[in-house]
Amino acid sequence: MGAYEQIRRASIEDPESFWLDAAASIDWTAAPTRALDAGAAPLFRWFPDGELNVCANALDRHVAAGRGEQAALIHDSPVTGTVETYSYRRLRDEVARFAGVLADLGVGVGDRVVIYLPMIPQAAIAMLACARLGAVHSVVFGGFAPRELAARIDDATPPVIVSASCGIEVQRVIEYKPLLDQAIELAAHRPERCVILQRPQAVAAMGPRDVDWDAAMAAAVPVDPVPVRSTDPLYILYTSGTTGKPKGVVRDGGGYAVALAWSMRGLYDIGPGEVMFTASDVGWVVGHSYIVYGPLLVGATTVLYEGKPVGTPDAGQFWRVVADHRVKSLFTAPTAFRAIRKADPDGTLLQGYDVSSLRYLFLAGERLDPETYRWAGELLGIPVIDHWWQTETGWAIVGDPAGIELLPIKPGSPTRPMPGWDVRILDPAGQEMPVGEDGAIAIRLPLPPGSLPTLWNDDQRYVRSYLSTYPGFYLTGDGGHLDADGYLFVMGRTDDVINVAGHRLSTGGMEEVLAGHPDVAECAVIGVADVLKGQVPRGFVVLKAGVDRDPDDVEAELVQRVRDQIGAVAALREVSVVPALPKTRSGKILRRTMRQIADGQDAPVPSTIDDASVLDTLRPVLRKAGG
Ligand code: COA
Ligand code: AMP
Repeated sequence: MGAYEQIRRASIEDPESFWLDAAASIDWTAAPTRALDAGAAPLFRWFPDGELNVCANALDRHVAAGRGEQAALIHDSPVTGTVETYSYRRLRDEVARFAGVLADLGVGVGDRVVIYLPMIPQAAIAMLACARLGAVHSVVFGGFAPRELAARIDDATPPVIVSASCGIEVQRVIEYKPLLDQAIELAAHRPERCVILQRPQAVAAMGPRDVDWDAAMAAAVPVDPVPVRSTDPLYILYTSGTTGKPKGVVRDGGGYAVALAWSMRGLYDIGPGEVMFTASDVGWVVGHSYIVYGPLLVGATTVLYEGKPVGTPDAGQFWRVVADHRVKSLFTAPTAFRAIRKADPDGTLLQGYDVSSLRYLFLAGERLDPETYRWAGELLGIPVIDHWWQTETGWAIVGDPAGIELLPIKPGSPTRPMPGWDVRILDPAGQEMPVGEDGAIAIRLPLPPGSLPTLWNDDQRYVRSYLSTYPGFYLTGDGGHLDADGYLFVMGRTDDVINVAGHRLSTGGMEEVLAGHPDVAECAVIGVADVLKGQVPRGFVVLKAGVDRDPDDVEAELVQRVRDQIGAVAALREVSVVPALPKTRSGKILRRTMRQIADGQDAPVPSTIDDASVLDTLRPVLRKAGG
């Protein structure tokens, strides 16, 4: 039995010992004597009697261990033409001081702080400062519109919000402050204070509620880490579900720290002093886990990159970052590599850089298409490791444990389950599917440490959305199969969630926005295949009887409406006015059939269809929409 297999079995057969052993990688103010608390099953908690501070684990303990002068975080920002390195000592000091700012504003244990910031060091500083105080951060991705930000403010009810005057999208300066002000106008909850970082690219007008970051920092007194219970929430991260109401995924501190520390070594093969470059955004789970917490928990160096993979100034920026900072593991979404390949198909730009430090390329967030896998592998000549996980799970469910034993890679598969993940393929009746046959991918409970204990303020929604379909199992929302070697093949979502350029979005949420237009009678949004972004949304609407408007005008209004209400990140660029939508006799829109036709698949006409001629009329429109 190989090292991986031994670890996997131990984690499933005796999770209690496995995770208590793993917990030794973390400094506890009160060490846990137990790993799993199943007292409130199916809600589980990890390390129930443990007490720790995650920020102290990410910063202070490395300074105490003599790593104070080592680089903790490198902000590499081609969009501003700057590179700035924070040593562990400097990062600890700034975080401690910003924790003082928050404490002065009344933030304490359990208070929520919404963070709406671009990819700048202050994003990590604000997150870690919350962790230092035992407060709960909720980072909102900058590409979301005020309405989405407002929904998160109302759910998290933060006394304080942290934001900046602007973000920079390649050549465009996006003023964040007016977006924040609009969001607060839209929200029912009013934060007492907003701490605003003024960036030179756009200086924001400050109001009575606003506090200037620099001035507050100058006046603040640093604070020490506050020990909290392992099970206390570290953060809430909102993610798209099947409706427009985002799900507030809760993350506890203790289980997360233990799981991330395990994954840094076991999966990403990164230890103290080594450099990880995760090209994502702090607004996504990948950014939380592997730009901020994971690398810092193990005393590594993290690169926080403010820019795109292409166009700032060219498609060689990832190679430059790898060469300049001696990156060992690079982690991004396949979309980034598709974008680089499109701009530089022969990889000519790579020749200009010494990327000999790079040992692995890790990809996740969306399906890794075989062409991108092949191209990246041939170009870089290193293992290209696909791994599969979700906002909810916090770290990889399935991957290739490079730090333990690199398992043979099978293109199209993210390889095998990580410790603690008991992956099963179920049929609609909850029976296990035979090897090789597709079904719903489910995880046998309990989920390992690091995964969500619940949804914010909504245990019922957690149970309803994830635990009710198959009692005793967590429903991932993805479909796929296991092969005879235990490799997982993920075939895609089985619900209304789509992945656009590695960004998780809800078609249901977009439909709610389209349906709110006064001229729209009904609508459908489906995800169709896209060569660059993997998937993109396409909208189809039927206008109300008597509406006599130029369809082009309505279509343009609808595209703008989604941009205004969800945000540019929704990337809904095309909406078509159609005479009718195909439905079953009970009135359910046949979205799956529409998607299959758009993707050029053989789509059998469902026997439940109400009027087949509607589908016939729509076929050419769908084919065109799918490219
Ligand atoms: N703040 C404000 N706007 C943002 C934003 C942010 N943080 N991030 C994206 N947007 C905007 C973009 O500017 C774009 O606006 P536009 O419609 O006016 O052009 C829109 O949202 C759509 O963004 P995106 O789908 O990302 O397209 P893009 O053309 O800007 O970039 C890629 C395409 C492939 C380069 C980019 O998506 C990428 O780097 N992806 C990597 C994947 C990734 O980070 N995944 C996260 C999970 S691992
Ligand atoms: P997010 O919560 O944004 O991380 O998105 C999670 C979803 O992205 C999963 O449920 C999958 O549908 C998809 N996903 C993530 N990683 C992969 C992968 N390696 N292969 C296929 N799909 C993936």
